[in-house]
Amino acid sequence: MSLQDKLLKIAKALGTDEVVEIESAHISGISYRNIGDAGLEYIRDLKSWNRRVRVFTTCNPGALDINLLSEQDPQLEILRLLKRLGVSTVLTCAPYEFLRIKPRRFYAWAESSAAAYIASVCDAYCEKFPGPLALLCAVCGYAPKIGKMKLDERKPRVLVRLRTGRLTYVEAGILGRYLAETFGDAVPYIENAAEVLRGEECLKSFLAAYATYSNNVFVVLERITPRFQYYREVADFEDSTVLEHSDIRKEANNIVLQRDLSSLSKRTLLVLGCPHLSYDAAVRCLKVLSNLDIKCTVFTSRFVKARLRQLCLGNVDVLADMCLFVSYLVNYVVENFEVVLTNSVKQAHYLERVLQGVEVRVVSFNRLEEAISGF
Ligand code: F3S
Repeated sequence: MSLQDKLLKIAKALGTDEVVEIESAHISGISYRNIGDAGLEYIRDLKSWNRRVRVFTTCNPGALDINLLSEQDPQLEILRLLKRLGVSTVLTCAPYEFLRIKPRRFYAWAESSAAAYIASVCDAYCEKFPGPLALLCAVCGYAPKIGKMKLDERKPRVLVRLRTGRLTYVEAGILGRYLAETFGDAVPYIENAAEVLRGEECLKSFLAAYATYSNNVFVVLERITPRFQYYREVADFEDSTVLEHSDIRKEANNIVLQRDLSSLSKRTLLVLGCPHLSYDAAVRCLKVLSNLDIKCTVFTSRFVKARLRQLCLGNVDVLADMCLFVSYLVNYVVENFEVVLTNSVKQAHYLERVLQGVEVRVVSFNRLEEAISGF
């Protein structure tokens, strides 16, 4: 069976006969730590495809900085195989920061936070694809037209009226989680989004948390999403909510660490960069982190890390090509730290699963919030 036939078969299984040409693909699930030997075998099988990707294809973070991998490391084999297929091995979950995303064009992206970003901020037609399917789409140049790739599935169903004023990075994540948990997969239309979710990093925080707790990747953000007026016109609201700042604070009380940072032990690690931090935000954050007396780790893309070289500071490690959740560092962190703090609602959700015996908490403090949000 040809790869195209395989794709058509999968499309059918997903409930559609329609496949559409895609602009680009983004693959997730390439960390050897997460996919293990079974995943490596699958990627080895790709050799038999004897093909290259037909569209520009990026991939998610792996298990370690490429420069630190030994020759025998299976992660290196995975990356070489992907490279042979023509996949760009700049390993980041925020590839939209260096790509021009076209509105109303189709994308097969497999990282939920990135799919949510390009669907909601750029009006790209995108779904949350499983990693292996995104790779198959990349090789075929087509994707099954499913879910939020169809215009009529993008109709807003929940009207969200925000009376909160500008939210911080952590509050934006809490809002994302709250909306997903309260309204499930119904598409929200968010009034005042441009005033409330200001700045690139706040949007990333909001959408990453939202797409972690919901299967939906599309949110209409008033005055941010291109054609937001069109989506308002076709909306079919079944539910609505009004949220005050006090509602977000109430939610935050259950999630965010309430202790003073100075009361934490030295065996505390602060982790930033989920999704990967942009250069500007990283520069602002590094200045704040260097004044803390705990160990800090910042995850970002290789491009950003290269530009940050001169800014790397004693208590802060800037790491590229990976993030803590998918990295080989998990065991090291379990052995050496009692508490892991993060400002990412998404990262906290995932770290709780892998950092057995470590207290994982979302942290919010003014200087960091101001730095990351660019207040
Ligand atoms: Fe990226 Fe890892 Fe978060 S892949 S979105 S930093 S869990």
